[in-house]
Amino acid sequence: MALVVLGSARPAAGAAPAPGFDGKKLFIDKGCFACHSVNGPSAGPGPELTQVAYQRDAVWLRAWLTDPKKLKNDTVMPKLPWKSQAEQDALIDYLLAARHPIPAADSTRAGSRIPPCPSASSRRADAESS
Ligand code: HEC
Repeated sequence: MALVVLGSARPAAGAAPAPGFDGKKLFIDKGCFACHSVNGPSAGPGPELTQVAYQRDAVWLRAWLTDPKKLKNDTVMPKLPWKSQAEQDALIDYLLAARHPIPAADSTRAGSRIPPCPSASSRRADAESS
């Protein structure tokens, strides 16, 4: 699982593993934007996600997107239907590639509310502070 996070803000096109799926478009089509934002403070109940890759990796994101309630059983985030693994991967790739700091939108709080996924802990570096 070699994830190349591109230095500067580049759309998820660079290393997209899933041609045919556009993560940014999926974010809208799947309704994620109703609860989340990317690139600015979130107006919905979910955290801003531009910074999610600072504390989550692809393994954790896959587990979360597959079944949020497995990681946090009282979350309001629904279990969404996925047409294929490639579709989910495209969205994960988009979130990982979007990574950049936004001081105005602190999305790090959500991370501390949900315990890290066990399968991700081996890859977790120093991301979890506080
Ligand atoms: C009905 C609202 C809702 C929708 C729709 C929704 N989410 Fe969420 N999501 C949340 C909430 C609320 C949280 C915070 C977890 C919690 O405390 O329940 C969350 C958490 C997350 C997290 C984890 C953030 C972290 O670091 O802990 C990710 C990633 C995420 N959502 C991605 C998505 C994606 C991608 C979609 C679309 C496929 C989506 N969400 C759709 C409400 C939603």
